Amino acid sequence: MLFTALFHTHKFVVLLFAAIYLIKTILLLTGSTNGLDKFTKIIKIPEIVISLLFLLTGGYLVMGIAAFDMLFILKLVFVFASIPLAIIGFKKKKKLFAVISIFLIIGAYGLAEVHKARMGKRHDFKEEVITNPTAQNYVLNLHGKALYNAQCMVCHGNNGDAGLSGAKNLQLSKKTEAEIATIINSGKSTMPKMDGKFNAQEMKALVSYVKSLRAK
Ligand code: HEC
Repeated sequence: MLFTALFHTHKFVVLLFAAIYLIKTILLLTGSTNGLDKFTKIIKIPEIVISLLFLLTGGYLVMGIAAFDMLFILKLVFVFASIPLAIIGFKKKKKLFAVISIFLIIGAYGLAEVHKARMGKRHDFKEEVITNPTAQNYVLNLHGKALYNAQCMVCHGNNGDAGLSGAKNLQLSKKTEAEIATIINSGKSTMPKMDGKFNAQEMKALVSYVKSLRAK
């Protein structure tokens, strides 16, 4: 899927981008201006390509992201503040600018990870539902739906086919019950891992609801 492929490309490109910044900053901090100029010259074309890929993949991913929250906006602010700071820092040999720029890039990466971890946190039910399986009017699928709406709908949507943040269409999914449980627990690409967040009954309810989306 395009989103998932671009997500992994983006991560890799960001890593390269940060590595170039880091090398330049180290050269600047150690007073090796000659080395910095040399490295800047050598890396010039690759850096243009990497920067373009960074912004293009990032731009595409932003449009399809499931949760555009404050944390994510802060991440964008960090990224877009770091670029001019780095350009000025390396060109005018301003150490402080370069260091702040590196911290902003690392901070942006950290914010993205926190954003992901937050998606995988246990969220409260959005509706009232009977969660006690021994209760007389307990319905497994309603329990599953409540869990799904709280936890999964943000990416997979109401009917399982929203496809936000690269989420696969659950209506077309052919995964077995065991495979569904595995992906819920361990996550995959942008899907956060949720291992240990659901007890056996909740897992049963979730898996049942996910499968029920296929019939629709
Ligand atoms: C942050 C977005 C996000 C959230 C939240 C999320 N998913 Fe996903 N889900 C994905 C992505 C992305 C994939 C595709 C992973 C891949 O194959 O690369 C996926 C794939 C799946 C698949 C596999 C489908 C297939 O046929 O390959 C299942 C099943 C699934 N998710 C169920 C759930 C359930 C249940 C929840 C809630 C407990 C959930 N997801 C929460 C993004 C999300």
